[in-house]
Amino acid sequence: QNSVVIWTRVTPQYQVSEVTVKWEVSADVNFNKIIQSGTTTTSPKRDYTVKEIVSSLKPNTIYYYRFSAFNVTSMTGKTKTLPTDDSQVKLAVASCSNIEFGYFNAYAAMSDENVNAVIHLGDYIYEYGPDVYGDKSFSRKNIPPHEIITLQDYRDRYSQYRLDPDLIKAHASVPFINVWDDHEITNNAYIDGAQNHQDDEGSYDNRKNIAKQVFYEWLPIRETEHHYRKFRFGNAMELFMLDERLAGRTAQADSITDPRRFSNEQKLLGDQQMEWLIDNLKSSTTSWKVLGNQVIFSYSDWGYEGFSQNMDAWDGYPNDQKRLTEAIQKNNIDNLIFVTGDTHTAWAFEATSDPFETYNPKTSEGAIGVEFGVTSITSGNSNERHPTDVVKKHEMKIANSDVNPHLKYVNMRDHGYLILTLDSDKVEADFKIVTTLKERDTSVKSDKKFVVKKGSTKLIGKL
Ligand SMILES: [Fe+2]
Repeated sequence: QNSVVIWTRVTPQYQVSEVTVKWEVSADVNFNKIIQSGTTTTSPKRDYTVKEIVSSLKPNTIYYYRFSAFNVTSMTGKTKTLPTDDSQVKLAVASCSNIEFGYFNAYAAMSDENVNAVIHLGDYIYEYGPDVYGDKSFSRKNIPPHEIITLQDYRDRYSQYRLDPDLIKAHASVPFINVWDDHEITNNAYIDGAQNHQDDEGSYDNRKNIAKQVFYEWLPIRETEHHYRKFRFGNAMELFMLDERLAGRTAQADSITDPRRFSNEQKLLGDQQMEWLIDNLKSSTTSWKVLGNQVIFSYSDWGYEGFSQNMDAWDGYPNDQKRLTEAIQKNNIDNLIFVTGDTHTAWAFEATSDPFETYNPKTSEGAIGVEFGVTSITSGNSNERHPTDVVKKHEMKIANSDVNPHLKYVNMRDHGYLILTLDSDKVEADFKIVTTLKERDTSVKSDKKFVVKKGSTKLIGKL
């Protein structure tokens, strides 16, 4: 409410051991009303990235900032502190931006939405080499031209993404609240390993520490003891950003019937994070509690032959799914909203892990809240693999009450982001989709809107 993290990177023309960087924060865009300024230093030790925490600011206020070094002044960034009062809160929710799948039009479009913050649920970068996971006909190729493993590799990949003009525009327009998902480390990461980490790529621990280090270097977020953390947006909402990869996650079960899936040792959040979450949900006094969740919480049947439930999502960790559900029910925690990334698909669920026994699809009774899954900024979904009419048919199949009675909307074809507008008595979710990934074009449209009234877990469709 009183501080922001401002970020830049200096690119010296030749290697230097240290650079002095001046920063300025102003109440107006022309820097006639500079309210704070100072100097800091950066060096190759942090890849010349600069991160400054500016404090003693007013809540719910827009500020402008810029940096200078080597007699060059940066572009101007705009940021906003969090509110402390009854103000309405508007968020853009994003995940899964893959540079080889297309232009980041969704980032450019959300820059113009006048939101308090962008909630980024991960897969901000991808670790693969060129043409492994992307649109091979699209001109942008990964830098460096191989899977990232070393410190320099991770830094080069972030640099490539951070030079994308649409992502630059987004960061310069609105504060980001990020969490890592798996691809910031490597595919399907957990504490002790990952699907996309092999023995000949060195120690996993070492790679994980490099990935964390570079994430913190290249993103304007605070370096806290735990990556999971909370933010209060006035009286409207509290945001709980969860770390579902590196805080407590054990390895994924191999299949739905794998006994490991049901073992007491199988954890998604880990005990410490789970206790932190439950305690803080219990004591929260805001109108809404929003969970920044990487992988789908609700039971979800994907409806494919050989792939019904995703063992990388909460469905693969039924003990934790049940533990959180029971804590919410036992403590009468209400007005809960999951926002979820990871799947490259837009979803709206009345959130439950048990849609067949304890949940009533007519009244929404039995749901513990609602869950909005956001589609990808660019990363491929069904449409990149199958004809549109086939995908639409599949969407209808899985949104059927026999398959997923609690699923009220699914879009596996489009790319975009989610706008969430929170008032004291209701929340509106607006699923926005971009027109194209193959040209730079910031046009978007609403694909579906829902309203949730305070005290209810019912999704009311509007569009
Ligand atoms: Fe992704």
